[in-house]
Amino acid sequence: SRTVSLAVIPGDGIGPEVTAEALKVLHAVASDHDVEFETTSFSLGAARYLETGDVLTDEDLAAIASHDAILLGAVGGVPGDPRLVGANIERGLLLRLRFSLDHYVNLRPTRIYPGVPSPLADAGDVDFVVVREGTEGPYVGNGGSIRTGTPHEVANEVSVNTAYGVERVVRYAFRTAQSRRRKLTLVHKTNVLTFAGSLWKRIVDAVAAEFPDVEVDYLHVDAATIFLVTNPGRFDVLVTDNLFGDILTDLAGAISGGIGLAASGNINPDGTSPSMFEPVHGSAPDIAGTQKADPTAAILSVALLLDHLGLSEASAAVTTAVTADIASRAGRTRSTSEIGDAIATAVSQPTPSASKDLS
Ligand code: NAD
Ligand code: IPM
Ligand code: MN
Repeated sequence: SRTVSLAVIPGDGIGPEVTAEALKVLHAVASDHDVEFETTSFSLGAARYLETGDVLTDEDLAAIASHDAILLGAVGGVPGDPRLVGANIERGLLLRLRFSLDHYVNLRPTRIYPGVPSPLADAGDVDFVVVREGTEGPYVGNGGSIRTGTPHEVANEVSVNTAYGVERVVRYAFRTAQSRRRKLTLVHKTNVLTFAGSLWKRIVDAVAAEFPDVEVDYLHVDAATIFLVTNPGRFDVLVTDNLFGDILTDLAGAISGGIGLAASGNINPDGTSPSMFEPVHGSAPDIAGTQKADPTAAILSVALLLDHLGLSEASAAVTTAVTADIASRAGRTRSTSEIGDAIATAVSQPTPSASKDLS
């Protein structure tokens, strides 16, 4: 049987709670699909920083990078905690991982599952994926401030967009569209961010010529938020920069029935370093320790992980179990571990179609 090495970073707040459920499901589905996951847990995040002063050492990074894949819960302390000022766990840990491991595709699928209580009254069929650029944009830390702390302070945070970086993520988005419903929407703000907008637009137009079967559309990001609420069914693949993608995918999570359902993959499509899978949500300090967190996003991130590793049947088994679990929720309140247990039990059971094959 195949063995996969998995670095696990449970993190802070609800991170460890949802990761425990994701691992339950992963191990349950793995044994049925002739694969074994050897996990190494890395204690990283705000808690580790407060204990040791380390955010992510070079040794940690090298050890994580030596695994086949990474599963992350969520990192980040309570916003406003004075002990964390200057630590910048998000940049020093999460972004450092994404940048060092060249996770240039941040893949964030959204579906409205049957039976889910979406805040949209009549959402229709919703199944789209945001291909968010993961290594550039305003996230690169190209900024600074002068006259800091004075009334004349000037703070710059420059968005970096390279032709190389934009082209590779756009190409990935076109390939993704080709494998789906062949519709791609570029989301940007070309009317105001004219330099970066022009680069994205020209690259999309150029790459589109290689994918004549993919229909291309463009929306300004503000208008995109309108359609995500009024007509999300129009979307198939959205491609956008790092910051717009961050914002749009929290909105996408909300319309899909809650941020607790939104999964993501930080993908290195070239396979030069391990890809990392994590829920879209954060450490949710407001509900940490209460077993109120929905572990579904973490569990669906396991489905993305399995798919990335070429274990598509195991991935489908997880998605099927999650879909059934969501359909059965109506009005019930269950704890984090009750949801995880139910899905872990369901993935280890023969699916209806598999049992039909036996008869
Ligand atoms: P958040 O996503 O942690 O929480 C926003 C809201 O969503 C909260 O009300 C929370 O209770 C709710 N929520 C989140 N996940 C949920 C789940 N699984 N089930 C039910 N409800 C859920 O965002 P925030 O409050 O802006 O950030 C908190 C901390 O997390 C910050 O330090 C932030 O930087 C960090 N963060 C980390 C990641 C990550 O590790 N990938 C992502 C986003 C935010
Ligand atoms: C996310 C988070 C991160 C981001 C933060 C915590 C750095 O919000 O994964 O969506 O902005 O990418
Ligand atoms: Mn976010």
